[in-house]
Amino acid sequence: MNRDQLERIARAMVGKGKGLLAADESTGTIKKRFEAIGIASTAETRRDYREFMFRTRPAMDNHISGVILYDETLRQNGADGTPLVRLIEATGAIPGIKVDLGAKPLPGFPGETITEGLDGLAGRLKDYYGLGARFAKWRAVIDIGNGIPTHAAIVANAHALARYAALCQEADIVPIVEPEVLMDGDHSLRRCYEVTEAVLKTVFDELYAQRVFLEGIVLKPNMVVPGKKAPRQAAVEEVAAATVQVLKNCVPTAVPGIAFLSGGQSDVEATAHLDAINHLGPLPWAVTFSYGRALQAAAQKAWAGKPENVPMAQAAFAHRARMNGLAALGEWTPPLEAAA
Ligand code: 13P
Repeated sequence: MNRDQLERIARAMVGKGKGLLAADESTGTIKKRFEAIGIASTAETRRDYREFMFRTRPAMDNHISGVILYDETLRQNGADGTPLVRLIEATGAIPGIKVDLGAKPLPGFPGETITEGLDGLAGRLKDYYGLGARFAKWRAVIDIGNGIPTHAAIVANAHALARYAALCQEADIVPIVEPEVLMDGDHSLRRCYEVTEAVLKTVFDELYAQRVFLEGIVLKPNMVVPGKKAPRQAAVEEVAAATVQVLKNCVPTAVPGIAFLSGGQSDVEATAHLDAINHLGPLPWAVTFSYGRALQAAAQKAWAGKPENVPMAQAAFAHRARMNGLAALGEWTPPLEAAA
């Protein structure tokens, strides 16, 4: 394990005013996203879509520190034959790879899941390093509902995250540790706080136990928000305060950076929340974004699968990248959205 390299990459992933583009939708997930805008999902349409994002400059150069890819994309070439990984590297961004194999039902625990993918992971990580990946992602999913999450499901998922993180570091790949508490349901902000706290504490217990080098990880948590169907939604400042409080209580300062998932928040909410969190500094870690939907939804809509729409779609992607880059600095303001 090359600790210097791990720490250097982890720091670059959360570099000033930059964040991660999560473009690692599995084939099933991207199919759903494409269906919503009337596009057939084929290897070629998936390639064309991702290629135009990676070619969006200078937004990529200025605001995106790294891109999380799905296995297929890591191996794909652009229309002119250039590997997509090279296009990403040309912008100064770091290529990364989603390595988990998805959340599957946890036997004995109705409504809960365990993320799979540890078997054979050491070998896959070796291949991915050879293909240019310098960081990886593994997403554990925790749902809030009647009687869930259970302690057992939290522990099982945290343990798998820690095993994954240790395997990554052994392969000189920075693990993004992603325990996602979902915002589905009608629970309160308080309940999300309590579950997020329990999850993060358990995750760090497991990371310690597996001897994970904390300076060489990036944490990708949810923000503390009420469920989407909760009768009372929270103000931006409430979300920011609760999120910073839970992170300060649970995340050691050895961790270089925290990069949030957007998790179904609207584009502007995800930006406003990140900005407000960065107003509560100074914080002991760099705090930025690792957004999927909140960076891409507008671009997908503008594109609609038509080559002639690519410039418009690139403008939409560049705009979200810039807004989130500013939010990572605590320099975003609502009027900047209207100026687009
Ligand atoms: P969202 O920002 O759309 O939640 O996606 C981020 C991600 O990578 C989830 O694993």
